[in-house]
Amino acid sequence: MKNKTKVANESSVLQARFMVPYQYEIHFTSDLFAIENPLVREYFSQHKKLKGQKPKVLFMIDQGVVDHHPDLSTRIGLYFDTVDGVECINKKYIFPGGEQVKNSRKDQDAMLQAIDEHGIDRHSYVIGIGGGALLDAVGYAAAISHRGVRHIRVPTTVLSQNDSGIGVKNGINYFNKKNYLGSFTPPEAVWNDLDFLSTLSDRDKRSGLSEAVKVALIKDRQFFEWLEEYSKSLNSFDEEALQESIIVCARLHLNHITTSGDPFERGSARPLDFGHWAAHKLEHLTDYEIRHGEAVAVGIVLDTVYSYLMGYIDENSMNRVVSLFDQLGFNEYFDYLRHYESKALLQGLEEFREHLGGKLTVTLIDRIGHGFEVHEIDTEKMKMALKRITQPTFYYEN
Ligand SMILES: NC(=O)c1ccc[n+]([C@@H]2O[C@H](COP(=O)([O-])OP(=O)(O)OC[C@H]3O[C@@H](n4cnc5c(N)ncnc54)[C@H](O)[C@@H]3O)[C@@H](O)[C@H]2O)c1
Ligand SMILES: [Zn+2]
Repeated sequence: MKNKTKVANESSVLQARFMVPYQYEIHFTSDLFAIENPLVREYFSQHKKLKGQKPKVLFMIDQGVVDHHPDLSTRIGLYFDTVDGVECINKKYIFPGGEQVKNSRKDQDAMLQAIDEHGIDRHSYVIGIGGGALLDAVGYAAAISHRGVRHIRVPTTVLSQNDSGIGVKNGINYFNKKNYLGSFTPPEAVWNDLDFLSTLSDRDKRSGLSEAVKVALIKDRQFFEWLEEYSKSLNSFDEEALQESIIVCARLHLNHITTSGDPFERGSARPLDFGHWAAHKLEHLTDYEIRHGEAVAVGIVLDTVYSYLMGYIDENSMNRVVSLFDQLGFNEYFDYLRHYESKALLQGLEEFREHLGGKLTVTLIDRIGHGFEVHEIDTEKMKMALKRITQPTFYYEN
């Protein structure tokens, strides 16, 4: 080693620091695959690869959507005959809708296999059409294939159009835990086709409304008041009211993602998850018999009553929240709480903490339209809140 010039300094520190900008558009449209609708054509005319191989487009569709739109695959095929510069894979892959698809290893493998078999590379696209569950699973399969092939979402439920389908998270359930495997991978685009909503069951139309109440309660008093004013129309699924609630709710969610400074949830706070610690636990305890949105309604009311019992909000504010959920037709789901010991439900707090990492952070409200964070929950008070909600007269009194 004599006379050898030293090129590395053992004590040097290399700095890795870079930013990756993300950008995608969320469109609201109707009849997305009508030949006259230029949206998809225009998207690919702007984004197609200019040289070399044509990017491919692979569709994965929710069985619940196909059941109500049996001609969808044919229409997609005809539409893509008019799209230049991309190759649409003829075979459409259909997967069960609902939580089942996030619980199924078999479906996850089938998604990965389809991506592999059709040679979908990082310049090609997987397009998911369906509810939040299908989109979560498809987005995850795309995110882990080749360390990330592009994915586009076509959300078809109220909840996926106003919340889950427009954000950056994907995932499946694993080890019996909700969203245990997943990624923060923004989509390339989101195309919300409001026409899909007409074939949803009443149950699925209603379920997504709870996310609108949630985001109103923590971020926008005016929107909460609008929801109160239109609660009757929303409860009868008036098309115009439903669409407006979706667009405002999507805007508020997106606004949080783009301006909070923590789109990939590096911190321990998750303000958009107001009411979700109990919701996730309830979904699990009921073996997903209760829908995500329904469980969120229960979770929000629980944390609202707790906020009242802790002295953070006044009685009138609490009553307004309870009666809005009543007006929107959510009462029957509160019965689920009666089936479980409070101890089982309260375990949800620790599971929530573990999923987020760091210290427990739960969002509560200190007025309508404003959320704030706490790092401890008074178990006795939470039990009191639970007891109060499970009284048969709870809604009646409010
Ligand atoms: N990624 C996120 O940020 C995020 C946020 C919130 C919720 N989620 C997830 O979203 C899922 C819930 O999504 P959801 O409420 O959309 O329900 P869902 O995906 O479970 O779908 C509910 C039912 O509606 C059917 N369906 C879908 N579109 C239809 C249509 N147009 N017509 C008729 N039937 C249709 C489905 O087949 C299914 O049976 C949960 O897994 C939840 O964890 C994810
Ligand atoms: Zn949610």
